[in-house]
Amino acid sequence: MCGIVGYVGSRQGAPLVLEALKRLEYRGYDSAGIATVNGKGLSVERAPGRIAVLEARLDGRYPPGTTALAHTRWATHGAPTEQNAHPHTDCAGTIALVHNGIIENAGALRKKLLERRHVFRSETDTEVVAHLIEELYDGSLADAVIAALRSIEGTYGLAVVSSREPGTLVAARMGSPILVGIGDGEHFVASDAAALLEHTRSVVYLDDGEVAVLTRDGYQILDRDTAQVEKAVRTIDWDLKTVERGGFAHFMLKEIMEQPESLRNTLRGRLLDDAGTSRQGGINLSDDELLDIDRIVLTACGTSWHAALIGEYLLEELARVACEVEYASEFRYRNPIVDEDTLVIGISQSGETADTLAAIREARQRGARTLGIVNVVGSSIAHEVDGGIYLHAGPEIGVASTKAFTSQVAALALFTLHLARLRTLSVLQGREFVQALRHLPDQVAAVLDRADEVEAVARQFADATNALYLGRGSNFPVALEGALKLKEISYIHAEGYPAAEMKHGPIALIDHQMPVVVVAPRDGTYAKIVSNVQEVKARGGRVIAVVTEGDEEITTLADHVFTIPVTLDALTPVLSVLPLQLFAYYIAVARGCDVDKPRNLAKSVTVE
Ligand code: AGP
Repeated sequence: MCGIVGYVGSRQGAPLVLEALKRLEYRGYDSAGIATVNGKGLSVERAPGRIAVLEARLDGRYPPGTTALAHTRWATHGAPTEQNAHPHTDCAGTIALVHNGIIENAGALRKKLLERRHVFRSETDTEVVAHLIEELYDGSLADAVIAALRSIEGTYGLAVVSSREPGTLVAARMGSPILVGIGDGEHFVASDAAALLEHTRSVVYLDDGEVAVLTRDGYQILDRDTAQVEKAVRTIDWDLKTVERGGFAHFMLKEIMEQPESLRNTLRGRLLDDAGTSRQGGINLSDDELLDIDRIVLTACGTSWHAALIGEYLLEELARVACEVEYASEFRYRNPIVDEDTLVIGISQSGETADTLAAIREARQRGARTLGIVNVVGSSIAHEVDGGIYLHAGPEIGVASTKAFTSQVAALALFTLHLARLRTLSVLQGREFVQALRHLPDQVAAVLDRADEVEAVARQFADATNALYLGRGSNFPVALEGALKLKEISYIHAEGYPAAEMKHGPIALIDHQMPVVVVAPRDGTYAKIVSNVQEVKARGGRVIAVVTEGDEEITTLADHVFTIPVTLDALTPVLSVLPLQLFAYYIAVARGCDVDKPRNLAKSVTVE
């Protein structure tokens, strides 16, 4: 996905939108560009790569203008070059546009516009929209944009300015986030509130099909039929500090270290000690409706999919309800069997992942009840579902998800507890579970206090070329998550496997070079995983094991151990993942990788 910022006011726009754009660079960093409008015309400046490259090129010489756009790109159509960087303009150079999403019928529209002698300068789908607006312009930028959108298929969050209307900025949303920021004598648009915190905390989230027309003095929101829409103004409840690194070397390390607090926020006000249960105000399902649910489908992508796998173990083990976990990208195109007695839970940190959003829509269309476990307030998935559980983990800026994962598992545990107390769990068992959840944040802090031990081991594996991660039960998904973290930030190839699966193939990979990370807390599968460690050692593998305090057997076998405190089997994943997050982080740092902005990745994937 890309990052968009726009401004219309009385201040010089270029330095302002460029500074704000930096807070969105985690969304994509293939190229950057700005456009400004002043009484004399339109200026556009673009550069391939990071915003810093564009800044160096500008060298403080910002194009003048009090209306401005900025964009940071995650390339989908057209290579990450200057030519394909946004903003894109029309033939006459009077219209500039920035876009996040995919114009699916760009090819057909381009053909028509070429027949009408429009000249294209890029390979992007986006440029088509600038020419379409040019084609339809008849004195009103807003009308031309609305008319152009009528013939566009696909997804967009976009913003447009024109030298013919220097004091106007038009933005629109269909499937990709865009919000309006309300200032005093100035207005903003952005893909994400984080970009605007320096200027305002009052925002209006656009819904699909809505268009915003902004001037210095005001804004109006129009629906598909250009009727004016009254929208609630929301106040962002986090401040600038939360979107800054706060002295940490990387956002990823900051977010790893924030987990005691983010977990407390996820649990706050949701645990009922005496009743031994939990409450989630937003699920929009009565206890009777919950009891009618006979099947739960959890769907997500990436790290959120790993949390879903742990959710399956929790729900089946404790609430005794049948569960399936589906890759959202597969679920949406399969012919899934879901009905009104099925609850489909979509898990997403950003709430904008296109495949997960589409999977939710598919489930709704088939009559299923839907629930979202989401971190970003006001996001598309939060809009789409029947009910939801917000993580309240705070903004997650590092591309590699960390604190959202542990909060997702905690949210799934809360929901499971509620359901289980309605079905199978006694009040005493419920109280024990509540107490275990209450202890988690302090236990997480205790593990993170020993980060330097993980760093010391990680440095010894910085030259690894492959790695194998093994786990059993609900710690198998933790092994998958550990492998994903290592892959995405250090570029070392790594695979996660159920430990017992190793004998059916991966064991062939093991030699004295191969680091084998074994997630082995003292739970019901402990005895089995001890044998798996012995099998690895028998082939000369180097074992790094995550074990429970007081462990002896695996500690004797393994080359390195990271210990975690005792908790309920079902909750061990919240603790066992922490050393794996740190392990991947310190290896990536030792390899000099750009931890917060790994190559080819974006924080959330708003395109298919
Ligand atoms: C995880 O570190 C990655 N950033 C990625 O796999 C991510 O989990 C996935 O894209 C899903 O994102 P979401 O939770 O925002 O939907």
